[in-house]
Amino acid sequence: MTSVTALFSPVEDDLRVLNQNLRELVGARHPILFAAADHLFQAGGKQLRPAIVLLVSRATMPGDITARHRRLAEITEMIHTASLVHDDVLDESELRRGIPTVHSSFGNRVAVLAGDFLFAKSSWYLANLNNLEVVKLLSQVIVDLAEGEIQQGLSRFDADLSLEAYLEKSYYKTASLIANSSKAAGVLSGVSPEMANHLYHYGRDLGLAFQIVDDILDFTGTTETLGKPAASDLRSGNLTAPVLYALEEQPLLETLIAREFAEPDDLDRALAMIQESNGIDRSRALAAEHTRKAIEHLECLPASESRQALSDLADYILRRLY
Ligand code: IPE
Ligand code: IPE
Ligand code: MG
Ligand code: MG
Repeated sequence: MTSVTALFSPVEDDLRVLNQNLRELVGARHPILFAAADHLFQAGGKQLRPAIVLLVSRATMPGDITARHRRLAEITEMIHTASLVHDDVLDESELRRGIPTVHSSFGNRVAVLAGDFLFAKSSWYLANLNNLEVVKLLSQVIVDLAEGEIQQGLSRFDADLSLEAYLEKSYYKTASLIANSSKAAGVLSGVSPEMANHLYHYGRDLGLAFQIVDDILDFTGTTETLGKPAASDLRSGNLTAPVLYALEEQPLLETLIAREFAEPDDLDRALAMIQESNGIDRSRALAAEHTRKAIEHLECLPASESRQALSDLADYILRRLY
């Protein structure tokens, strides 16, 4: 299987610069705040979101990309990392990117502040791009992230959750950032409104597919390969695509969820029911449908190695194992 880094080859040098900059950008007056904010940058993630911003930038610019494109990529990774710090507090999760989460190392108070600090820093750098349209696109993302976490929190253990509501929540939590940052990269390149719209939809469909695959991996992956706890969504009542499909086949699953796995074997029984159902296969098909749509939205771009990488990335997401 191709590694994700191979797909990023057109922006490999750009990502190297990004990594140096990110750690400087989060400079904080208080050492504990700096240490907490820097904690996850040191571990490094897949950097999918900044890579997409850089690839869209290269695919839409006739010459070299600008300092503002680069800064947008950095802001995107900063917003994403902030959302993870807060998400791990809400999920009481102990591991992220293969290292202890910010809240398990520094405590909940520091984690909440560190997440806020990263959001605030990203807003500051965003404003300094001096492009009102881009400021609006990325500010909406920060609103959407909060909306997504609230929707998810309110629907825990709700076996009546519809697939539409699940996809809406996934848009807010995950796809909004990829959609709006892809569009913003196009806006910085001065693309037409029509092309900006295609870039938004590329990111939206790719983001939905990415979240569906992440939700499948929670059932099929291991904590070691994922670098974060596996099999944790169902336990905490976060009902994702595989569960929603399995519920259509296994009526008893609803009973187990409704009583919040109160009996000792409940969770294991529920996991077995999901594995035996067509839930995982149907979720893969749903993700594939979204990556297919994402790729269609790239047709408006002139052919280039960056456009090809954006297309290959959509395929990679379907095949990824971590
Ligand atoms: C994790 O995103 C959160 C989801 C949207 C599922 P990534 O899997 O991209 O996390 P990192 O940045 O590589 O750690
Ligand atoms: C995406 O959802 C997280 C955010 C966008 C904050 P998940 O809750 O599935 O992410 P993981 O599985 O904890 O990485
Ligand atoms: Mg989580
Ligand atoms: Mg997850």
